[in-house]
Amino acid sequence: MSKAPRKILVTSALPYANGSIHLGHLLEYIQTDIWVRFQKMRGETCNYVCADDAHGTAIMLKAEQQGITPEELIAGVKAEHESDFADFHVNFDNYYSTHSDENRELSELIYNRCKDAGHISSRTITQAFDPEKQLFLADRFIKGTCPKCKTEDQYGDNCEACGATYSPTELIDPRSAISGATPVEKESTHFFFKLPDFTEMLKAWTRSGTLQDEIANKLSEWLDSGLQEWDISRDAPYFGFEIPGEPGKYFYVWLDAPIGYMASFKNLCDRTDGLEFDDYWSKDSKAELYHFIGKDIINFHALFWPAMLSCSNFRTPTAVNAHGFLTVNGKKMSKSRGTFIKARTYLEHLNPEYLRYYFAAKLNNRVEDLDLNLEDFAQRVNSDLVGKVVNIASRSAGFITKKFDGTLSSQSSEPELVKEFISAGDQIAAYYEGREFGKAIKAIMALADKANQYIADKEPWVLAKQEGAEQQVQDVCSVGINLFRLLMIYLKPVLPEMTGKAEAFLNDQLDWEALGRTLEDHQINKFKPLMTRVEMEKIEAMLESSKEVLAEEQKPKLDPNSPLAKEPIDAEIQYDEFAKLDLRVALIAKAEAVKGADKLLRLELDLGGETRQVFAGIKSAYSPEQLEGKHTVMVANLAPRKMKFGMSEGMVLAAGPGGNELWILEPHEGAQPGMRIR
Ligand code: 2FM
Ligand code: ZN
Repeated sequence: MSKAPRKILVTSALPYANGSIHLGHLLEYIQTDIWVRFQKMRGETCNYVCADDAHGTAIMLKAEQQGITPEELIAGVKAEHESDFADFHVNFDNYYSTHSDENRELSELIYNRCKDAGHISSRTITQAFDPEKQLFLADRFIKGTCPKCKTEDQYGDNCEACGATYSPTELIDPRSAISGATPVEKESTHFFFKLPDFTEMLKAWTRSGTLQDEIANKLSEWLDSGLQEWDISRDAPYFGFEIPGEPGKYFYVWLDAPIGYMASFKNLCDRTDGLEFDDYWSKDSKAELYHFIGKDIINFHALFWPAMLSCSNFRTPTAVNAHGFLTVNGKKMSKSRGTFIKARTYLEHLNPEYLRYYFAAKLNNRVEDLDLNLEDFAQRVNSDLVGKVVNIASRSAGFITKKFDGTLSSQSSEPELVKEFISAGDQIAAYYEGREFGKAIKAIMALADKANQYIADKEPWVLAKQEGAEQQVQDVCSVGINLFRLLMIYLKPVLPEMTGKAEAFLNDQLDWEALGRTLEDHQINKFKPLMTRVEMEKIEAMLESSKEVLAEEQKPKLDPNSPLAKEPIDAEIQYDEFAKLDLRVALIAKAEAVKGADKLLRLELDLGGETRQVFAGIKSAYSPEQLEGKHTVMVANLAPRKMKFGMSEGMVLAAGPGGNELWILEPHEGAQPGMRIR
């Protein structure tokens, strides 16, 4: 008798309803989606729910800024989020909103149960208040001059210039970031969840295998040093749920956000036969509950959340799986470098499965940051997926279609090799289950190498020219196709779209149980390309448009009459950083078009003895003839960059919005090549 399927409920963190999904978010959704697809493929009952995190001051203010209601704002953002997720093949069973009836009811229920059990307290606190907006101000809504280094326009709790941390009351000349008014201090009553009451419960829970070791250790320190009561209320005006019996007081967004997991699931249960909310959430539930989150929100998920659940008589999570942050090319995602890449911008240039594969290949079950190195990304996808996996099918399929009418041999000529591929399945499954996706991919690629080696050794293209070797050709290619099929089963959680195409080609359904059979005397369909190569130019174009998207977004924040409104400055630098720039007068000794590049000119710049080659994106504004013999300004100490067309050893400076409205800087005629600009 086969085992009863597991009942598994999975969540990813709920994205805020005031911004777009970017690649940093996608790391988590792709990680979770791969895990969920794996469970479903294995026949488990697995539901994956999520929602937009729709409450809070930021959302209220953003709606106001746009002249729409918060409800209108969150509806628009939800539609955008849903289409981004769908296009990355992130397949939620339900995507909901925390601004829902289900969430209101569950939030009230949990709060009331906690209150009835004596775990809610209230007291008066003093906070900064914007007298103009009539609004209490969280630290990040207060700006002023840093008390330490005196840099202006710093946020209420830390200085971006010198790194100092302080309380907003220490700021010099504090201002409300919303209205510009000087904040005053004001008292109000707040409600608190008495977290210290749950210290013993949490000590046991955090050490019971629910958390990764590094997290359990960190939490241990906090638990040992004593927990604080948690402020769960905010004063009106606030976009959220009013606290029952406390007019003008609202639940803090972080109270109802995780309850949003339950509410989204409740909404799914209410419209799905046979799916029972209590089976998954009652205190004695036998179902498994997993939250996938980023390392920055651990305290909410591993302290407040299990405490609230236990206090209100619900089950606690089976595990909270935290991941690290995403870096791009080794650095924090940056708007000015174009590496702050939105989901939609990526999709406009590249195939989502490239990213799914790359993330999978680098993910493990620890809380480490993951670097998306764009060159490595292209190289890895091209060599593994296009070069290895697709190649197996494309080398075998043609012969089967042309010579054997699409029919595979009636018996495998390499049963041992096929068996070896099948028996690797248990280890690969264990890696997926344990969120060691990188190890799974490594094992799968080792098999792909074997399959390619097999075909290379047998040389069906040589056999095809030999008389009387017909059967051998069919046998070798049939083995090739069976090996390819097994690889696609293993890759299905990561590459659902490519696997869909492979299923159409193989004329077969690739679930985990499909490992139990091989294709013999089986009709396949015509082979169509399964995946094309990643092109470096598309990556470059994506980075360029990420910069453009940013410029667009910054416009409304600035005075529209300022020249900065069109091209805002997005990072302030210190004098010593500026002083590092080596700007020189350069003579354009030679200028020429670059074959295959629409926007670039190749320049030879004379620095008074030394010649540099620079590729400059000014072709739409200048013809080479216009430039030769002119003096201009170059950044002479920019690290050389390898471009598709050669090394670029510096940069020329130009002004203007772009296109044909671009002017290189021309120094006064007295300035000679090589002179330093200061
Ligand atoms: O950090 C965030 O982006 C939050 N919106 C995550 C909420 S997760 C859950 F608790 F709702
Ligand atoms: Zn400072």
